[in-house]
Amino acid sequence: MEVVAIANQKGGCGKTTTAVNLSACLAAKGKKVLLIDLDPQGSATTHLAISSFEDTMYEAMIEDLNLSQLIKTTEINGLDIIPADKRLGRAEMEIASKSIARERILKPKIRILDTYDLIIIDTPPNLGFLTINAMVASDTVLVPIQTEFFAIQGLSMILDLAKAISEGLGQDLKLRYLLTMYDARTKMGKEVITRVRGLLGEDVFDVVIPRSIKLAEAPSYGKPIHMIDPEVPAAIAYSQLADEVIA
Ligand SMILES: Nc1ncnc2c1ncn2[C@@H]1O[C@H](COP(=O)(O)OP(=O)(O)OP(=O)(O)O)[C@@H](O)[C@H]1O
Ligand SMILES: [Mg+2]
Repeated sequence: MEVVAIANQKGGCGKTTTAVNLSACLAAKGKKVLLIDLDPQGSATTHLAISSFEDTMYEAMIEDLNLSQLIKTTEINGLDIIPADKRLGRAEMEIASKSIARERILKPKIRILDTYDLIIIDTPPNLGFLTINAMVASDTVLVPIQTEFFAIQGLSMILDLAKAISEGLGQDLKLRYLLTMYDARTKMGKEVITRVRGLLGEDVFDVVIPRSIKLAEAPSYGKPIHMIDPEVPAAIAYSQLADEVIA
């Protein structure tokens, strides 16, 4: 089992879009996948049109509920989800007020879900305790980077956090970077790609996710992009990302 947290404190860089579409593509390739929505915004949950649920990750993080009791199936074969909504927002403060092992609440709970090939965790746009718990529980942190002028600004914050976690755990937390929302019509887009690859080298995925209106519209259909139109470049790109993650 491989656990991948999707994280970047920068808002709107494509975390949820990547979490949902990567999970769905991995499932389409025959993997058994669990998507954990660890964001009180509940965007991944909404994107997959999951609406009727009682307990959320809040109960798991605070009241010590078993994660397996929270799992919901989705319309996609091979993809399950643990949903979230705004109630999870209270967890951040309550975890902060704990004194022992507050970074390690999620890890043991996730590690017993070993019937899954991959667990993907969507995180909120901050580096608070929810994100830290997701990173501590993971083997790899996938950092989406919007292909824009400010692409790498603030990146050192998550790099430093990953380093601190690696040192604290005594194991290497692997960081991988994904360029998103690339607009091939602009010269700046190409420059940003060159700059990011120059800085982060082989840790950047080969595939770049193009800017796509279809991708932005997909949540309103409650489906991942490949179920709406598998032929659009953004759908092909997420399928390639799934291949790179499997490799
Ligand atoms: N490749 C893309 N092309 C066009 N629109 C995109 C693309 N990726 C994401 N979007 C849109 O950009 C917005 C932000 O994306 P998304 O919700 O995935 O980011 P996020 O990092 O999860 O945001 P937050 O930090 O609020 O959780 C959404 O409206 C989404 O539909
Ligand atoms: Mg999000």
